[in-house]
Amino acid sequence: MSKEAKLAVGGQEYSLPIVEGTEGELGIAIGKLRDTTGHITLDDGYGNTGSCVSNITFIDGEKGILRYRGYPIEQLAEQSTFIETAHLLINGELPSRDKLREFSDRLTDNAYLHEDMRYHFESFPVTAHPMAILSSMINASSCFYPGLMGPANRERFDTHAARLISQVRTIAAYSYRKSKGFPTIYPKRNLKYTANFLHMMFSQPYEDYELKPEVVKALDLIFLLHADHEQNCSTATVRMVASSQANLFASAAAGVCALWGPLHGGANQAVIEMLQAIHDSGDDGSRFIQAAKDKDSGARLMGFGHRVYKNYDPRAKIIKAACDRILSGLHISDPLLDIAKHLEEQALNDSYFVERRLYPNVDFYSGIIMRAIGIPVEMFTVIFAIGRMPGWIANFKEILDNPKSRISRPRQIYMGATERQYVPIEERP
Ligand code: CMC
Repeated sequence: MSKEAKLAVGGQEYSLPIVEGTEGELGIAIGKLRDTTGHITLDDGYGNTGSCVSNITFIDGEKGILRYRGYPIEQLAEQSTFIETAHLLINGELPSRDKLREFSDRLTDNAYLHEDMRYHFESFPVTAHPMAILSSMINASSCFYPGLMGPANRERFDTHAARLISQVRTIAAYSYRKSKGFPTIYPKRNLKYTANFLHMMFSQPYEDYELKPEVVKALDLIFLLHADHEQNCSTATVRMVASSQANLFASAAAGVCALWGPLHGGANQAVIEMLQAIHDSGDDGSRFIQAAKDKDSGARLMGFGHRVYKNYDPRAKIIKAACDRILSGLHISDPLLDIAKHLEEQALNDSYFVERRLYPNVDFYSGIIMRAIGIPVEMFTVIFAIGRMPGWIANFKEILDNPKSRISRPRQIYMGATERQYVPIEERP
């Protein structure tokens, strides 16, 4: 196969090299396009733009394939844990027993927030959205580790990464407790990552939360399934910020902000709100499906559709099965699950959704599990952020480790007013 593409512009032909990924993905490298042709590319929403070369995660959206560092998501979901997967994403390999213990001990050692951070929490109103608190506090915590990105600290990257993975969970739990007016609960050294998070969320000073293994497992699975997803909006944001050599915490805080929106991580909250509204209106989903197809209604079937997957999102398949399992294990019958299943069935048999290849994505069923295990709806996107942290860190590290990294700085096609002369205010109409 030819390793170059031909481009004809203004009567002249140019050769552009083709880059081939290890899974056969093909990209036309346009790094010299503007210099040689005077043109740039225009790709609103970046649907056709590869922003980097990466070794972390592979997605085949047509076939519904997702692999972290080559390992199928189905195998990791079945056999791994969130923390082992975090190691895999950040360091590239599944850890030996000793390496996993070392990684996990580093997380435990770095779980505690600087005591002064507690005062920052005081200043948020109780109505603050936990995603706002999360991004602010991640950024604020970098103030406690000066020189985070300085050359002297490059070799301390593992500690900074551990601090971030571990503390995001502590900050998340504190932000929830703040919203409830509950006292903060410190992490316990003897608890593993996910169990410790549930403990910090739900224990009281006078009574420890009862940790049910099936609940811990379900949440760990949710973290693992969200751990990375190549160049999505928040990860691309993290890379964009990191490319300016901003520190790890600042880059991750920007990722949290990007994740918050309802078209991205905020969809898990939006799904439950949609299902609840359908339920409260007495609809079984049939009326809502009609509204979601009508562009003037402003409604979208949240938790459906994906920029990359044009097939069933493999994470949604795993989550749907886990959802049935956890609800029956906890003897919970949730009318929202019935509505979700009905919506899915209708959408998958409706030409509007079929023609546009809109399938359930990771957010469609995850909220029902979180509801069942007692996570409040405003914390859903925070849970996504905790899960995504290893992926953001792995992407940040890829930039840090690449001596050829350049600042990300897209161009634009200007369509505004051409040059005009300043008019003094008294002469303006
Ligand atoms: N409900 C109804 N119509 C939809 C939906 C939906 N959920 N998603 C896409 N469409 C329609 C869209 O209106 C467009 O129709 P037409 O071709 O007639 O103009 C067509 O399908 C293509 O959609 P698009 O908006 O151009 O697709 P996109 O790749 O820009 O957006 C998306 C992808 C995920 C933002 C979008 O599908 C969406 O808004 N879904 C609902 C929100 C959601 O669930 N987001 C979570 C994404 S997965 C987790 C994550 O990565 O954060």
